[in-house]
Amino acid sequence: MTNKAVLSKPAPMPFASKLKQYQQRVDSALDYFLPADDPPEHQLAESIRYAVIGGGGKRIRPAMVYAAGEAVGADDRALDLPACAVEMIHAYSLIHDDLPAMDDDDLRRGRPTVHKAFDEATAILAGDALQALAYEILTENAELNISAEHRIEMLRLLTIASGANGMAGGQAVDLASVGKKLTLEQLETMHQLKTGALIRASIMLGAMCQPELAGEQQQALDGYARCIGLSFQIQDDILDVVSDTETLGKPQGSDAEQSKPTYPAIIGLDASRKLALEQHEAALEHLAGFDSRADSLRQLSAYIVERDF
Ligand code: IPE
Ligand code: IPE
Ligand code: MG
Ligand code: MG
Ligand code: MG
Repeated sequence: MTNKAVLSKPAPMPFASKLKQYQQRVDSALDYFLPADDPPEHQLAESIRYAVIGGGGKRIRPAMVYAAGEAVGADDRALDLPACAVEMIHAYSLIHDDLPAMDDDDLRRGRPTVHKAFDEATAILAGDALQALAYEILTENAELNISAEHRIEMLRLLTIASGANGMAGGQAVDLASVGKKLTLEQLETMHQLKTGALIRASIMLGAMCQPELAGEQQQALDGYARCIGLSFQIQDDILDVVSDTETLGKPQGSDAEQSKPTYPAIIGLDASRKLALEQHEAALEHLAGFDSRADSLRQLSAYIVERDF
């Protein structure tokens, strides 16, 4: 081996491998935290595990927690708890989103939705229990070497992102807007709430695992998170039009069938693609002051607008 080879830095890992690593890491942490056994009279734990594990979710929100933590030099061991918490809130939101009273979809992550595989009451309870578990996990003592005050701040951030001024509020706007033609501004607000809020929380929770986080880093990451939150849902809307059910693992065309207000429905496919790319560019600009430790965040933003499911 030459000296040069010894001194040169290892080549950066391609993002697909990095994402796989994040996915495996959060999967084993989720397996640890999810309830395992049911009494004979119900299937709550089984339905929760069915919804969260083994169904091909991309784990993009946990990846955001890990990548944001990396970017600010957070204690790596602290990141599993918020990574699991955001995936649990997300899984709960999907179970309820698919219910007949909401989007009425039968397929999720390539398998029957929870209310189809079990029943509606079980699906509602699985969502409720996952939401509660997400908050419980943020209070776990395990590796999270962070003060009680700081943890309350993290908890508060996640509750706000999930509630009436976040995901749940956005879902309410979504349902109330069926068949209506929203303005672009209303559509953006809806997307920022129903999807963007939890994505912002994922980035901020990862960053908050660095207790010394500088104010300007926090602001820059929040700017980045707003951009990828929007580009994520724009791409989701685009894929509902251009992809197919097998690739998506959920029913293609569900939005049009239910007259949902989406970017392609309101501004067309080309303008939607352009807007998603603009958000990606803007996301990268927010990271201009970060060093190569933020490369996973940069790649994540590209992945969000390039993904095909
Ligand atoms: C789907 O989210 C729901 C939206 C907020 C658009 P994902 O596309 O992250 O779903 P999974 O977790 O990979 O199944
Ligand atoms: C859902 O948006 C956002 C959530 C809060 C779950 P969609 O209804 O577009 O998500 P998909 O397309 O069913 O995954
Ligand atoms: Mg929906
Ligand atoms: Mg839906
Ligand atoms: Mg969708």
